[in-house]
Order: sequence, then C-alpha cells, then structure tokens
Amino acid sequence: MNAVVMNHLSKKYSGGKAAIADMSLTLEPGEVFGFLGPNGAGKTTTVKVLNGMLQPTGGECLIFGENPSNRPEKVHAISGVMTEHAQMYNHLTGLENLIFYGAVFGIGEEESRKRAQELLWQLELSDAWEQKLSAYSTGMRQRLSIARALMHRPKILFLDEPTSGLDPESAHNVNQMIRNLAKDKGMTIFLCTHQLRYAQEICTRYGLIDEGRLLVEGTLEQLRAGMGSGMKLRIRTDRLPDSIAGYTDADKNEKNRGEASGSRERQGAYDIELAIKSEEEIPRIVSRIVQGGGNIYHVSAKRPSLEDIYFSLTAERR
Ligand SMILES: Nc1ncnc2c1ncn2[C@@H]1O[C@H](COP(=O)(O)OP(=O)(O)OP(=O)(O)O)[C@@H](O)[C@H]1O
Ligand SMILES: [Mg+2]
Repeated sequence: MNAVVMNHLSKKYSGGKAAIADMSLTLEPGEVFGFLGPNGAGKTTTVKVLNGMLQPTGGECLIFGENPSNRPEKVHAISGVMTEHAQMYNHLTGLENLIFYGAVFGIGEEESRKRAQELLWQLELSDAWEQKLSAYSTGMRQRLSIARALMHRPKILFLDEPTSGLDPESAHNVNQMIRNLAKDKGMTIFLCTHQLRYAQEICTRYGLIDEGRLLVEGTLEQLRAGMGSGMKLRIRTDRLPDSIAGYTDADKNEKNRGEASGSRERQGAYDIELAIKSEEEIPRIVSRIVQGGGNIYHVSAKRPSLEDIYFSLTAERR
C-alpha cells in the first residue's frame, strides 16, 4: 500500500489564491521524502490537508489508505506531525507534556513514561525533562515537539522545518535520528525544509513545489538527469588553448578575440568553469591544455547539488 497518495489535490483558502494546485504525488512506505519550496509555496498547507487539519477544496488524498477528510481519527492514529508551532503546555515539564500527549493517544502512563524518557534521551533533552516548558529554549521546544510526534510510534512522520531553529550539532543529531527512523523502523518521513544541505544528506526522493504546484519529483539522480548532466569542471591554468576557451562562457571577450585571430593561445592566469557532458571529457581537456604548454594548478569536477538544482528551477520561474 502507498504511504501517501495525492490525487489532483487542491486547497484554496477563502479569498486567497490556490495554496495547493492540482497536486498528484505518491510516496512509498519507508521513503524519506523532501518536500521543498520557497516561502508560501504551500508546504505547510499540504501537511495540514494530509493530516485532516484542513479540508481540501479539490481532489483527494490518502494516508496508508485512510482519507483524512472523512476519517481524520484513523490518520491521527498512524501519523505523527511536527508543525511550526506545536501546541504544548508551558506549566508542565517536558516529560509531563509527553505523558499527557501519550494519554491523548490512550497509551497507559507507565508505557508513556518509558517512551517519553527514551525519546527525551534520544533528542538530548534528558537533562531538561524535569524543567517546565516555559524554561525551554526554541531549539529545546522544537526537539520536544519531535518527541511528541513520535510518542504513539506512527507509521508516517510529517516534519515541518524540524531543524530550522537548531544549532548545527542538534540539527545533525535530529537528522541522524530521522534517517534511523526510516532505516531501522521503516518509518515514512515527509520532510518540509529549506535546509537543502541537510535534506540532501537524508532524503531518498524529493518534490519541489512553487505556488502550490509540483514542479519536479524524483531522486537526486533523476533530478540531475533532468538538468542534462549539469556537471561543472573547474580548471586553473596559466595557458589556455583556444579550443578549450571555446567550451566556456566565462571570459567571453578573450574567447572572441581568440577566435578572431585563429589559433592564438592566451597566456596569463585562468580560473575557468566548463560545462561538460560526462567525465570522459576531463582527461581530454586536461591533456589538451598540457599539450598546449599549460601548467595545471587545479582540476575539480562537481555534480550539481540539490541546492544547485533548486536554484536553477526556482530561478527559471522568477
Ligand atoms: N490561514 C490562511 N489563510 C489564507 N491564506 C493562507 C493561510 N495559510 C497560508 N496561506 C497562504 O497559502 C500559501 C501557502 O502557504 P504555506 O504556509 O502553506 O506555505 P509554506 O510553503 O509552508 O511556506 P513557508 O516556507 O514560509 O513555511 C501562501 O500564499 C499563504 O499566504
Ligand atoms: Mg510552512
């Protein structure tokens, strides 16, 4: 069974434009799906609709076969949600908050306490479990709300910007935890984030949205393939044969001059970036420079990162 199905899903707020526009997307169990997009793209709205916190205005969605619009309680039983502003109680300690939430899910107090302590330990909050929530920092609250979302051991976990307020060490720790939940427990993760480097570390597949529309979806390899190879070769040399200069957009004037004068080589310091189609081109380019009398000081090839892909796709739309 699919973990998530969205079938022409739409959501229009009254008086507003469509926050989700005809979105169709399927997630398999165990995926760590990165749901990416700029501010206002519709990520939080999608999480809310998928969890029955908002009603769609068109299409439908299913979470492990359950429809959150008709049977929200069925979805709540199998889904954990961490949204931007999780409601918790300031006058209760971290531990009490989790036990309270366990009771909401019908988990007995002893079992709740056991689960809560385990989660507080995993999220490095064990020192703070007896502190009132009012004394928690933003990052501590955020980690507590992840713990809260995991209390009933959901099959699918929705995380809306789980690491945005966290220091690098805590963010790293939370990312490891997310990865392990998927790997060891087979949990499906739906992760909304702007932190593309972290996303690239843990996600198995991505969907990029803007203005409520799904622009692309796929694994990093599939997204890269969609951009051509997108591979960039950087070379630093002191002499550049014209045949190589022809590859690059950088230094256009130089290039044009070279072409105008036939095969005149240029001397000086060059730090160029070439778009190449495959790795096979690298030795050919390097040997051409060396045969032309150039010394090479640096060669590196870079495949596009998730960040590169994100910017190239969102920039196309601006
Ligand atoms: N309660 C609401 N009433 C009216 N419009 C809303 C409401 N909530 C969100 N919107 C609008 O819906 C669109 C999508 O918002 P949403 O919060 O889902 O985006 P997001 O991708 O989560 O953005 P961010 O990255 O800033 O969290 C935006 O244009 C927003 O202004
Ligand atoms: Mg949001």
